[in-house]
Amino acid sequence: MAERTHGNPVTAVLSGVLDQRNKDPKVTPVGPETRLEGRTCLVTGANSGLGKGIAIRLAKRGARVIMACRSGIPEAGQEVRAASGNDAVEMIRVDLSDFDSIQTFCDELRDRKVTLDAAIFNAGVVPATSRTNKHGLDLMFAVNFLAKFVVLDRLLRDGVIPNAVFGHNPRPGNPPRIIFVSSETHRSSIPIDFERFGVPIQYGVADGVKYYGLSKLHLTTYFHELSRRLNPGGGTNPDVCVHALCPGAVNSNMAREAPAWLKPILKPVMTVFFQSPEKASIPVDYLVASDEMGRKTGVYMHMMRIKESSDASKDPGKGALLWTKTEELLRAHGVT
Ligand SMILES: NC(=O)c1ccc[n+]([C@@H]2O[C@H](COP(=O)([O-])OP(=O)(O)OC[C@H]3O[C@@H](n4cnc5c(N)ncnc54)[C@H](OP(=O)(O)O)[C@@H]3O)[C@@H](O)[C@H]2O)c1
Repeated sequence: MAERTHGNPVTAVLSGVLDQRNKDPKVTPVGPETRLEGRTCLVTGANSGLGKGIAIRLAKRGARVIMACRSGIPEAGQEVRAASGNDAVEMIRVDLSDFDSIQTFCDELRDRKVTLDAAIFNAGVVPATSRTNKHGLDLMFAVNFLAKFVVLDRLLRDGVIPNAVFGHNPRPGNPPRIIFVSSETHRSSIPIDFERFGVPIQYGVADGVKYYGLSKLHLTTYFHELSRRLNPGGGTNPDVCVHALCPGAVNSNMAREAPAWLKPILKPVMTVFFQSPEKASIPVDYLVASDEMGRKTGVYMHMMRIKESSDASKDPGKGALLWTKTEELLRAHGVT
């Protein structure tokens, strides 16, 4: 089947609507009898949209939930507590476009001796046009990809996420889980430009979705490389379970910067055809709570279907190069 294009806002929306009608086999959602009491789950971007849906779902299972957010403090936490009936929900402030804020956030988790059983990297952004963060890097590239690399570099080295390779504190038989919220747009992305890696690109409204897809290709390539590095023994009996997914089209605040001409069309389309954050969080819940996903690593899901991600994202050569280039870029910005 030909790959669908997500190159502009209209085709991306149409693609999201068509995904709702796909009849391929799905995994079975995890039943309410599976409890997560005693487990600690981190969710980034948990004050809005999908992230809030994930936080409520995991809190309902009894998990202690840490909502890592830059806004909505404390009201989003109160909402999650009220909706789940679980008081073990807290919020920590972090701006994922700002490497200093990320370091402060990671210091806090380390200093409080937090151990994460699951870390869900959900926060993402689609700016209307290109802009840079305070470090002079493209904002979408920084939030959708680089921030995950920087946070995980710290959480894995500090042993906040138990692991043998970087933290030397493995947890045999009870692997933690790392989950990335990616997007099917990674499939129709332009290739990663390793020659001009990290050099900010100028784009306007028409190309925002194209570069969003590229940021998700960076993320999906990193997801596979991290899974390989954390599990040098291969995919069975993983030390850390690393998974990724596209949640499908979600009626969230993601289109907040959509062009003014598109908003009057987008709002009703999203309300009628897109999934609620509550429904869209079910595959994330499956990756966090199912026994099956605690015995595997490197699984990519599109909504409730297990699929292969794109060939480019799985290429170990590209994954290793991405890792090296990212380390170089971060060193050049004084981050690692
Ligand atoms: N909506 C869809 O159709 C769709 C489809 C495929 C994939 N996704 C992915 O799903 C994830 C969640 O998006 P959503 O649809 O739920 O959109 P959303 O409602 O806009 O939520 C995005 C979240 O990311 C946070 N965020 C953005 N920049 C941040 C920063 N610099 N620091 C900290 N947090 C930041 C936002 O915080 P603020 O509220 O403070 O801005 C918000 O909590 C994203 O990764 C997105 O790419 C969405």
